Amino acid sequence: MTGPSLVIRPAEPSDYAFVSGVLDDWWGGRQMAAMLPKLFFVHFRDTSFVAERDGRIVGFLCGFRSQTFDDEAYIHFVGVAPGERGAGIARSLYKRFFDSVAPRTVVRAVTSPVNEQSVAFHHALGFDIERVDTDYDGLGEARVLLVKHL
Ligand SMILES: CC(C)(COP(=O)(O)OP(=O)(O)OC[C@H]1O[C@@H](n2cnc3c(N)ncnc32)[C@H](O)[C@@H]1OP(=O)(O)O)[C@@H](O)C(=O)NCCC(=O)NCCS
Repeated sequence: MTGPSLVIRPAEPSDYAFVSGVLDDWWGGRQMAAMLPKLFFVHFRDTSFVAERDGRIVGFLCGFRSQTFDDEAYIHFVGVAPGERGAGIARSLYKRFFDSVAPRTVVRAVTSPVNEQSVAFHHALGFDIERVDTDYDGLGEARVLLVKHL
């Protein structure tokens, strides 16, 4: 549950080892850790967050303000510990991210079509599917392009 015991704070470099270590497990065994380099916990600290309960990391979000588009921001990764899901933690992380990128009004994310729960989650958060690109991240690396206007 979200509530007084849940703290959302900016990410720190020292959080990286834990997050990287649980990533594949939190993604149900998919090999994902290589897609999240430490740089988010170093260079994007004011737009990347961890959710902590009793000093234990139970969720995280890594995102940034677009360097190219003045009104846009991008969410690269969000994850919540399996035992903590369905309680609004990811929604709280997104809210914190939206606040952190204000006054930017366009938020983008991409996800893999096989990750149906990610697509459903983003839909619940008010994201629209802009398009599905079969070779977006390289040949055969299909991605669903998601966008939300704040
Ligand atoms: C997707 C994920 C981040 C959601 O985290 P969460 O804390 O359980 O999400 P929340 O409780 O904040 O849910 C927010 C909304 O999304 C919906 N939602 C969350 N997971 C969902 C799912 N698997 N299927 C359908 N809807 C879902 C919730 O119903 C809720 O909607 P509501 O507020 O209208 O009821 C979490 O399941 C996860 O870490 N999955 C594995 C990693 C992953 O795939 N990350 C996303 C790709 S980068």
